[in-house]
Amino acid sequence: MGHARYLELIRQRFGSESSGRNVRTTLYLAIRHLILDGSLLPGTALPPTRTLADALGFSRSTLVRVYAQLVREGYLQSRGGAATSVSEALPTAMLASPDKSPRPAPTAALSQRGQEIARHATSSRIQGGAFVPGVPDVGLFPFPTWRRLLSKNVRFEQRHLARYSQGGYGPLKVALAEYLRVSRMMVCSPQQILILNGSHQAIDLCARMLCDPGDRVWMEEPGYWGARNVLRANGLQLVPVAVDDEGIAPPETLDGPPPRLMFVSPSSQYPTGAVMSLARRLSLLEQAELHGAWIIEDDYDNEIRYHPHTLGSLFGQSRTQRVLYLGTFSKVMFPGLRLAYLVVPEHLAEAFSIGNAELYREGRMIEQAALAEFIEGGI
Ligand SMILES: Cc1ncc(COP(=O)(O)O)c(C=O)c1O
Repeated sequence: MGHARYLELIRQRFGSESSGRNVRTTLYLAIRHLILDGSLLPGTALPPTRTLADALGFSRSTLVRVYAQLVREGYLQSRGGAATSVSEALPTAMLASPDKSPRPAPTAALSQRGQEIARHATSSRIQGGAFVPGVPDVGLFPFPTWRRLLSKNVRFEQRHLARYSQGGYGPLKVALAEYLRVSRMMVCSPQQILILNGSHQAIDLCARMLCDPGDRVWMEEPGYWGARNVLRANGLQLVPVAVDDEGIAPPETLDGPPPRLMFVSPSSQYPTGAVMSLARRLSLLEQAELHGAWIIEDDYDNEIRYHPHTLGSLFGQSRTQRVLYLGTFSKVMFPGLRLAYLVVPEHLAEAFSIGNAELYREGRMIEQAALAEFIEGGI
């Protein structure tokens, strides 16, 4: 290819790559694109950097750096005194214009599971704003205090907070165990608590650790869309169970296999706000025991009381350890914090801690340390 043709191609491509980028990146992308779409074939010699720099009006050092980067990455070769050329090691069959090849429809590119997730999307594009249910107003949050606690924990001496966490920051779990004992009548040790990246991750962990694809889940209807989507994405079969003013009303007789999991929000049913009656709680616990099922208790806004006589947690009422308790800091702190906690029965603590570490490798200890101090009265 003659230099004139090469320059023309570079100029054209430079135009389409340039938006918002600096000259070096634009030039790098332009040449790389011409190689990948087959416009510059393996072995094609490129003009010397000085010629190209003069013709394009850029500094030669820019050209030298771009060529050097493309050589490092294997797009170009530079041998001894010979001109820099397109690498002959590139597989020519791969060098076809991606722009010309037909792109698969976005959904066809997805797995069955991915397609299901996209098809049932609920709030992906509406995560905030006025009148969005479940999203708190963060206008009164004491950000100066939060900033002070965060920066205190980013100090050099706090290097241990920069590591992976082992299920959460210890002192935060201690503070939580105490809070749950006093306010939710729960007896649990810090070892039973996992700090997770929001409620969805906690539900995902429960689904993966306790259920197999095809297992049935009793879901409150109406109920929390987020839980429904995460459970469905795990291949679970959702069985809607009606809600009335006493909360979920489980069927008296089963019309299929028993559930493996039940998802409920007893303190304040989402979205009706019903508080589950004691009779229903006891009946649900009995059914869980009977079917060998697990209950996820979503206590998403337990810090906020709408009723003068709210009952304690289902977790605290269960004598047979079949309840996993889920709390979040999204309401009482702010949703972008992405911190939730899962309290699991004692005999599941070890397995859940392993599952959490294997699947997600948690961190965010600096925020958790700041949060522990915030709870202990940092304001
Ligand atoms: C019913 C319910 N559960 C849990 C949550 C908390 O979710 P996260 O911890 O992912 O913010 C919400 C938030 O809107 C909710 O409405």
